[in-house]
Amino acid sequence: MNFQTIFNQKLPQVEALAPGRVNLLGEHTDYNDGFVLPTAIPQQTVVQIGLSDDRMYHFYSENLDERVDIGEESFRAGEMQEEYGRYIFGCIQVLKEVGYTISPINLYVKSSVPLGSGLSSSAALEVATIRGIRQLFNLPINDVEIAQFAQKAEIQYARVQCGIMDQMASSLADTKHMLFLDTRTLERCVLPLPEGSSILVIDSGVPRTLAGSGYNQRRAECEQAAQLLGVKALRDISDVSLVETLPEPLRRRARHVVTENNRVLKAIQNVEMQHVSLQKFGELMNASHASLRDDYEVSVPALDILVDILQKTPGVFGARLTGAGFGGATVALVAAGEEKNIAEQVLKQYNHAGYTGNILVGA
Ligand code: GLA
Repeated sequence: MNFQTIFNQKLPQVEALAPGRVNLLGEHTDYNDGFVLPTAIPQQTVVQIGLSDDRMYHFYSENLDERVDIGEESFRAGEMQEEYGRYIFGCIQVLKEVGYTISPINLYVKSSVPLGSGLSSSAALEVATIRGIRQLFNLPINDVEIAQFAQKAEIQYARVQCGIMDQMASSLADTKHMLFLDTRTLERCVLPLPEGSSILVIDSGVPRTLAGSGYNQRRAECEQAAQLLGVKALRDISDVSLVETLPEPLRRRARHVVTENNRVLKAIQNVEMQHVSLQKFGELMNASHASLRDDYEVSVPALDILVDILQKTPGVFGARLTGAGFGGATVALVAAGEEKNIAEQVLKQYNHAGYTGNILVGA
């Protein structure tokens, strides 16, 4: 299947792509106005777009082999069942809401970003879609605005109360650098990955079941904690002893966010001073996992086992769950060139414990 056969149209007028992301440090901090440190992964989502000639919108997902055909009227009314269609539809709607004219299009999408592992396949789809539309209709929007529109589409049309990390990473990061981002001001800089290290991402094989409800609940708890502490967001607290007065579980939730923000700042201070120690960076990742497991309670037994095996394997500097949690993938910083070797050793032990893992980045 390809664009031509699906839409019976010669060639797409534009093609755009965007990568998935993996977050190295700074988890569940973005919706608290905090700091994050993601990097792009090699897997990408590609969209091909052409103008539709029948006043209908046509989308086709190669991965799902799913086609959506929807007329202007129903489109305007927001009738969209297919999940991937809602992301594309959401992007078009958001652009229309700010006043751009987006006439009906044919959009073909294919992706190598794994779905449902916490590597932001949805952000990659949104960013690729908006990039393609920007090109086709010559829209004067920059890469930060692309991320902002993409996040809006996800919140309003896919109904996930996400922060802005994933979309900013997909729109602005590359695979050779970490993107340090202040999610309040959107101030950012790119920093090289710590020298001598590589990234290894392993899927736990456990789907992210509670991700939606658990995620929104954590978000609400953080807002409540900030309110009780009299600050706009938990980002405004850097002294962790201040959270001690909060009732449980707010105390532990806030403690995670405050310590996690401090860990990101510590990591980038090290990198900026050019004497980043891989051990130090790794320790911060390990501490992040412990905090996500014990204070934030977004880990699951499979992730804990996988992280534990990783942390004990020679050549691994640090490992943690990555993304929202509740299942999904782990990220580890490992000795450059050793990824494959380490992954094989780790997967053997993980399988022995009764699980089936899968290498997503680093093989
Ligand atoms: C998901 C959200 C992000 C972020 C992470 C947790 O990926 O989309 O905005 O909150 O979870 O760090």
